Amino acid sequence: MSDNTMLAGKHVLLGLSGGIACYKSAELVRLLCKAGATVQVMMTAAAEQFITAVTLQALSGRPVITSQWDTREPNNMAHINLSRDADLLLIAPASADFIAKLAQGRADELLSLTALARPLARCPLLLAPAMNREMWSHPATQRNLAQVQADGARLLGPASGEQACGETGDGRMLEAAELFEELVAFFQPKLLAGRKVLISAGPTFEPIDPVRGLTNLSSGKMGFAIARAAQEAGAEVTLVAGPVHLPTPRHVKRIDVQTALQMYAVLLPLAQAQDVFVATAAVADWRPQQASGQKIKKNGTNIQPSFELTENPDILAAVAALPDKPYCVGFAAETEDLLKHAREKLVRKNLPLIVGNLGPATFGRDDNSLLLIDAEGQFELPHNDKLSLARLLISEIASRLEKK
Ligand code: C5P
Repeated sequence: MSDNTMLAGKHVLLGLSGGIACYKSAELVRLLCKAGATVQVMMTAAAEQFITAVTLQALSGRPVITSQWDTREPNNMAHINLSRDADLLLIAPASADFIAKLAQGRADELLSLTALARPLARCPLLLAPAMNREMWSHPATQRNLAQVQADGARLLGPASGEQACGETGDGRMLEAAELFEELVAFFQPKLLAGRKVLISAGPTFEPIDPVRGLTNLSSGKMGFAIARAAQEAGAEVTLVAGPVHLPTPRHVKRIDVQTALQMYAVLLPLAQAQDVFVATAAVADWRPQQASGQKIKKNGTNIQPSFELTENPDILAAVAALPDKPYCVGFAAETEDLLKHAREKLVRKNLPLIVGNLGPATFGRDDNSLLLIDAEGQFELPHNDKLSLARLLISEIASRLEKK
């Protein structure tokens, strides 16, 4: 799925209440439209003090609605019409005052009126709070937040950090890209709700001396995409990553390691409490038996340094041998005879499912194709971006868990 179809067919109602974070919502509109969504913007009078309706009209391609008395609506009922065909109502920024209004069910201007008049079952309410840290932690705000959540609203954020007022703390609105990711996740089916998923990703790095080591070309992208897809599907996700340069998917617990032995030591104790283990890591098969304590120097004698290699433990096989093991999914990155090698690994490691891919075609790339192999047979997930493949793999794993 390309970025410009990610939200195809979705209609988002975006309400802005007053706050400096309104500028972030302009960028959010752009991201939503670029992803194929249609966006109808509504603004309160306070929001119009921070950003103009003209900007948001230009970005959304639709007139912005600011008043319940807008005579452009033929029946003069903007608050009813707007929410009837919307897939969700996002209020970003949601100010402290606006959240207080929602908590009370007040409806004295267009945005709160629309929130109250929306069909609860069909048009969920998402709030991206934005306020000063003292306002955020005030008992009145916390009381109102508890009330709106009890009434079914979902909170996105807030983040913690430097605030426009110069103070630092909780209450910053999420960035546009983060809100965008939250909305994309919101629309994914919750196929793994209540499940715990453990993922290994990336290469390992096996030190030769303090500045050199053995590693491989795995970028971690496939594993990180699977972690994101599992989280979007409602799972509680732990991601154990070798050295990679990738941002952590939202709401995923990440543990960084360097060597295969460290990965083993972190994964094994976690594995038993999981429903699923997906081993995407390209774990180094061998490590130098004894890493040199100092940098190995050229000594001018032309004698090459030599070191013994010793085999690393097979983490996946060890997890698959646990008495109370999770559903284990292996990966096989090969350069030839993919099906044959992958099938051998399925049997040798005692796995219900293995995913084959060609090493040079996947390492470091944003797209791939996968061959799913189990005892019954095999089928291909054809060439696609890694997030789309990850979502298909997650839905395959979810349906196998159902049948267990
Ligand atoms: O044996 P091979 O490395 O080809 O098997 C690949 C699969 O086994 C992958 O899922 C990989 O994450 C896992 N593996 C592991 N520990 C190792 C080697 C591979 O978990 N030491």
